[in-house]
Amino acid sequence: MALASFPASPERPRSVPPPLPVSLRLEAEPWSSLPKNLILDLRNRLTNNEGRDDRKDDGRGAGSLFRELIDDYNMGIISGHEWWAITVWPSSSFWRGPVAWMLLRPEPRYLPTLRVGTYTDPSWRNRGLGKLLNNEAMRVGHQQGYKRLVASPWNKRSDAFFRAAGYAVLCPYGGGLSALAELDIPEECPARLPWRCRPPENA
Ligand SMILES: CC(C)(COP(=O)(O)OP(=O)(O)OC[C@H]1O[C@@H](n2cnc3c(N)ncnc32)[C@H](O)[C@@H]1OP(=O)(O)O)[C@@H](O)C(=O)NCCC(=O)NCCS
Repeated sequence: MALASFPASPERPRSVPPPLPVSLRLEAEPWSSLPKNLILDLRNRLTNNEGRDDRKDDGRGAGSLFRELIDDYNMGIISGHEWWAITVWPSSSFWRGPVAWMLLRPEPRYLPTLRVGTYTDPSWRNRGLGKLLNNEAMRVGHQQGYKRLVASPWNKRSDAFFRAAGYAVLCPYGGGLSALAELDIPEECPARLPWRCRPPENA
């Protein structure tokens, strides 16, 4: 029996479905156990950079505290003692290296506190990786006996990000200074979020 043939219809738009979610692997490790080449990769690819459009609200580049910290660490000026890094890796070998990370550093306060800073590769942003990292930071903090996370939003985007994650902004950013935002780690360790996200459309 002849099959009916359907002519291609040029008027129907060809919609490209979004790529399927990929599995992710999150690695939480003490800073001192990170391999040197990973530290270099984080420094070069995943820190604030004007060229990657990481700018203050007025359009000026922000510099990078992460890069300064890593350089000081590499030069032996700071030890990285009790720092933690959480890195996010797509499980497919199609992508090389981590695509987002968070640095956790103890900060002397009246409550055991970790200061967090985070960076997501621009093409992987707005896919929930920052949210995943923040949740993992609460889990690491909880396991290590910390009670609070603090962060310093410095532009509209980071301010919206930390507020969405539940941080209270105690002192807003402005006049060239970063904000101070904090989030209490709950008594009960937060559950792990699903380690999946949609990859960039152009991949
Ligand atoms: C801020 C940053 C870490 C967010 O990372 P991300 O992986 O895109 O974050 P997520 O996709 O998990 O976003 C989580 C929430 O933050 C908010 N958010 C993220 N990006 C936003 C943006 N550009 N504008 C407004 N809100 C935003 C959203 O409300 C989102 O919540 P939703 O899941 O309900 O939509 C990322 O933009 C970045 O690396 N910026 C440069 C470095 C930086 O500023 N770091 C923060 C200070 S250390």
